[in-house]
Amino acid sequence: MFGFKRKYKLLESGILKDATDIHCHVLPGVDDGSPDLETSFRLLEFMSERIGYSNVWLTPHVMRDLHNTAEKVSAVFSTLKDAYSGAVKLHLASEYMMDEGFKERLKTDPLRLGTEHLLVETSYMNPPVGLDDILMSVWEAGFRPLIAHPERYMYMDKHDYEHLKEYGFDFQLNIMSLSGYYGARPKAVAFKLLESGMYDYVGSDLHHLDVYQPMMESMKLTKKHLDALDELVANNSYI
Ligand SMILES: [Fe+2]
Repeated sequence: MFGFKRKYKLLESGILKDATDIHCHVLPGVDDGSPDLETSFRLLEFMSERIGYSNVWLTPHVMRDLHNTAEKVSAVFSTLKDAYSGAVKLHLASEYMMDEGFKERLKTDPLRLGTEHLLVETSYMNPPVGLDDILMSVWEAGFRPLIAHPERYMYMDKHDYEHLKEYGFDFQLNIMSLSGYYGARPKAVAFKLLESGMYDYVGSDLHHLDVYQPMMESMKLTKKHLDALDELVANNSYI
């Protein structure tokens, strides 16, 4: 038994009961997540019945190539809310790609996540030119930057993470990074950031149930990692 670290099933740990998910692509027909209302209902049913989420923030991608706007996703959100009769309380924000049009988008009343955050991401392979400058412009526009899934950015190293935290930017873990879904490197980085207390929040980043469901059903974590995750889940409820 020496060196053996007992692991527990995440879904049986109870830490996601009545929890809030702050990042998913369940809004239908606007990005690479749910394609239609029926699929959105199935996703919400799994999130509610099996995982235990009671509040879900829908965060569709807003980026140059998708032509999503706050007005467009708000209209789709109204349609979903009117048609949905399930138990989850729905909220709308967006996940903003820090691409060429981002600074202009900041001026057009973007959808904040909770009381103060703007959920932002970059390309996985390359940082945008002037990343620090772009993030500072988010502060100046009146939002606290929340960087989605920092473990997935292949160009970031330990120094980059420390630098971003020193500036006061918040980090959101993708829970499926812990399963290795995005590869060995994001998984290793996710555990390092989790163990060093650098994450502030956790999200599902749910796109498709066929991948998400089996990964969530089988995910096992040590007590130490479950406790660290539990802290992030607690933060989610105060977003
Ligand atoms: Fe996402």
